[in-house]
Amino acid sequence: MSEISKIEEKFNQALSGAKSLEELDAVRRDFVGGKGLLDTHLKNLKNLPIEERQKMGSSMNALKGVIMKALHARKSELEDEALAKTLASQAGDPTLPPFPFRVGRIHPLTQVMNEITQIFLGMGFGIAEGPEVETDENNFGSLNFLEDHPARDMHDTFFLEPSPGSVHESPLLLRTHTSPVQIREMRSAKPPLRIIAPGKVFRHEAIDATHSSVFHQVEGLVVDKNISFADLKGTLEIFVHRFFGSSVKTRLNPSYFPFVEPGAQMDILWGDRWLEVLGAGMVHPNVFKSVGYDAQEVSGFAFGMGVERLAMIRYGVKDMRLFYQNHVDFLHQF
Ligand code: DAH
Repeated sequence: MSEISKIEEKFNQALSGAKSLEELDAVRRDFVGGKGLLDTHLKNLKNLPIEERQKMGSSMNALKGVIMKALHARKSELEDEALAKTLASQAGDPTLPPFPFRVGRIHPLTQVMNEITQIFLGMGFGIAEGPEVETDENNFGSLNFLEDHPARDMHDTFFLEPSPGSVHESPLLLRTHTSPVQIREMRSAKPPLRIIAPGKVFRHEAIDATHSSVFHQVEGLVVDKNISFADLKGTLEIFVHRFFGSSVKTRLNPSYFPFVEPGAQMDILWGDRWLEVLGAGMVHPNVFKSVGYDAQEVSGFAFGMGVERLAMIRYGVKDMRLFYQNHVDFLHQF
């Protein structure tokens, strides 16, 4: 018996001396390995009388169990220590200043434009595009802006110098709104039509908190048989509720745009104020005439909204210039 406790004591000493996984493995080999201490003793048992042999045998086996368990426990301890050491050696210095680069993100105006587009795609609209350099005819004439009509003055226009020798039937300009895309679409396709046209527009404006010489609009156009003002109202209410929230109150007020009749503006009750969010109306018969549609056959509605304006309302941004200055602290909020 004392033999057994001697082995156990020896093992405990060796175990506490093992400071690494390698040393621990050596201890394992010395005690419970193939030619280890226990094994040798077990072999010697055969020289003992049978009774003692049995007693010794079971005690030795019990000891083996104890040793295996202790080895196992120590092994996971040493593994934890090794891992902690590796992690500590790889950890950064927490007193250093933070990583200087912030991850980029999509510009708030692009986000809003994408969101508007998604809402209309969800209602079955397609996307149309037109050029930023337009003809006077598409930007004004075909949209029923008569020559010398004061409505033209509301669009302070950048006209382009005709290049020497070029003959354009209609002067070129930077489009002042996305409505000319309506004209292009109707000229190139037959009804039914259901499109939106997102894009950049240009006006010769003094820049301030609510004006910019370059801004963004989304135009919409629906043409089919029997399109009514109720369709206009229903479609735009769905849009406004998806964009601003379903509890937002809306109202339509009469308004004037040369290319629609009747014309309207949609307002929303935002906080305690009614704010205009878009212009709309039933496509004017003169517009249909200019693209070769029969106003007796088809009807339609159109609408247009300013992306900056919607973004400003939604996020409570009071100065449009913030969208263009690219201060990271501003952009990072969206
Ligand atoms: N083009 C108009 C503007 O820039 C916005 C607009 C109003 C578009 C009414 C429309 C509409 O299609 O029906 O102010």
